[in-house]
Amino acid sequence: MDIIRSAPALATHINALKDAGKALGLVPTMGALHAGHLSLVAQAKKAADAVGVTIFVNPTQFGPNEDFSRYPRTEKEDIAALEKAGVDFVYIPDVASVYPEGAHVTLKAGEMADVLCGAHRPGHFDGVVTVVHRLLTQTKVDVAVFGEKDFQQLFLIRKMVEREKLPVKILGAPIRRESDGLAMSSRNRYLSISERKTAPLLFHTLKASAAKIKKGDKVEVVLKEARAALTKAGFLVDYIELRDSDTLHLLAKKNAAARLFIAAKLGSTRLIDNLALNAA
Ligand code: PAJ
Repeated sequence: MDIIRSAPALATHINALKDAGKALGLVPTMGALHAGHLSLVAQAKKAADAVGVTIFVNPTQFGPNEDFSRYPRTEKEDIAALEKAGVDFVYIPDVASVYPEGAHVTLKAGEMADVLCGAHRPGHFDGVVTVVHRLLTQTKVDVAVFGEKDFQQLFLIRKMVEREKLPVKILGAPIRRESDGLAMSSRNRYLSISERKTAPLLFHTLKASAAKIKKGDKVEVVLKEARAALTKAGFLVDYIELRDSDTLHLLAKKNAAARLFIAAKLGSTRLIDNLALNAA
């Protein structure tokens, strides 16, 4: 596995793979890798001949009061896990390789970037689409895999790729969960022991709410009760909403593409999750 740390070294490596006629896959990450990330690698390997992973804690997607400086950095362990997973190359750029002109947003995420997480993290998705555009352009991959864990991110990346006419296929991967239902996340390691015990309630509430809506209970009432139950358990709920998976439009009633979305803080840790009604 090649470990690449600069844009020129990346270009040399990519050109060699392209010259050898390989179809290339990419899994962009911010590191602190877990089994969710590795499931994306496995999916990319099925879709491409050679797979790269990027590890870059992107400064432009963090707000001024967010966790950029304390975001977990576990490079040694990440490299070992990727080697074991059979990845062809890891790109761990410095900020100048991604942002030669300085770390600024240069793309707007567009419509639906200001709902859900975007409403609580202003500018976040502009930073995400800016860095993903750069990583896809630099690596020239044929396919890239993103997790449904960050469903709105996946949605906005697909839109950006369409808008910018990038020659890359975007694949979505299902959410990987711990055995108690908690969606895997690099941020789960922030949780205290007692918060970790409470955290799976987020998914269980999502599941129970989805089942109630599916059987015909009123959406507004179900969501109000869910919010109250989570608040009582110690969560600070940012949002719990029913939206259409294909458009992200808010739904007052279920439809075939309906999906529940949730974000809540437990102590200082912000957790997100989502569940399609037809998967509940
Ligand atoms: P990061 O949070 O490291 O996630 C990298 C990828 O792993 C994303 O596509 C995310 O949706 C996926 N992922 C995370 N947890 C998952 C889980 N439990 N199951 C399945 N997939 C999961 O998302 C980012 O980094 C950044 O915003 C990035 C796209 C790299 C841009 O900086």
